Amino acid sequence: MSTTNIVEASDIEVTFGTGRAVVRALRGVSVTLRPGEAVALRGPSGCGKSTLMRAIGLRLSLTAGSLAIGGSPAPTARSSRARLRNSFFGYVEQEFGLIGRLSAQANVAVPLEYARPRPGAAQRRECTTRALTQVGLHAHLGDRVSELSGGERQRVAIARALVNEPTVVLADEPTGALDSATAGDILTVLLGVRDRGATLLIATHDERVAAACDRTIDLLDGRIQATSG
Ligand SMILES: Nc1ncnc2c1ncn2[C@@H]1O[C@H](COP(=O)(O)OP(=O)(O)OP(=O)(O)O)[C@@H](O)[C@H]1O
Ligand SMILES: [Mg+2]
Repeated sequence: MSTTNIVEASDIEVTFGTGRAVVRALRGVSVTLRPGEAVALRGPSGCGKSTLMRAIGLRLSLTAGSLAIGGSPAPTARSSRARLRNSFFGYVEQEFGLIGRLSAQANVAVPLEYARPRPGAAQRRECTTRALTQVGLHAHLGDRVSELSGGERQRVAIARALVNEPTVVLADEPTGALDSATAGDILTVLLGVRDRGATLLIATHDERVAAACDRTIDLLDGRIQATSG
């Protein structure tokens, strides 16, 4: 396994709002992620887990600090950021972030628009079918997401995050809406990205999820409180 850091966040700060409404969500956080490892991100509600994942995944701008992706500084140009966001990273949003009026398959196909070379229709169908089958939704390919259950929606979001075979998977409480048997299956799928050398960062309140990862990072009030493993 290579020891190069695939993500290197140095002393990052993220502040929301201004004046009296200011929230310092991250207050100087340094994190490195290596290829082929699974890292659990823990901490109480509001400690900054989602903010850290969004910062690493280029979904928000840093107030201070620096971020290197794959050994290079994170790009600043909009188009390069969008490309990396959708191809280098797979992101499972805490609120799923799906398009309700579209089918499960159409939602999962969204990141493929950013794949280079861009796959044709047949290949898109094959990739999205494989990803949805992997999360147990083969029978729901054509179903509108607005008509799926919460747990099914969560699994569509996971399939969408995996469809591009991204280098880094950022999963924000990806099993919160699932029963424990399904959660176990999905965790196995997510941890399986390590087999192809990809990295998993997973925010969780579930001790079993944390225990299954290679190491843990504990956040408290926007700072790293402890790391293990
Ligand atoms: N877009 C935003 N605008 C203003 N404040 C925000 C925004 N996003 C997050 N915050 C604030 O930043 C802090 C960290 O939020 P964050 O969502 O990162 O927490 P979290 O650890 O993911 O919590 P949870 O376990 O509940 O998901 C909180 O105080 C939150 O209210
Ligand atoms: Mg969160």
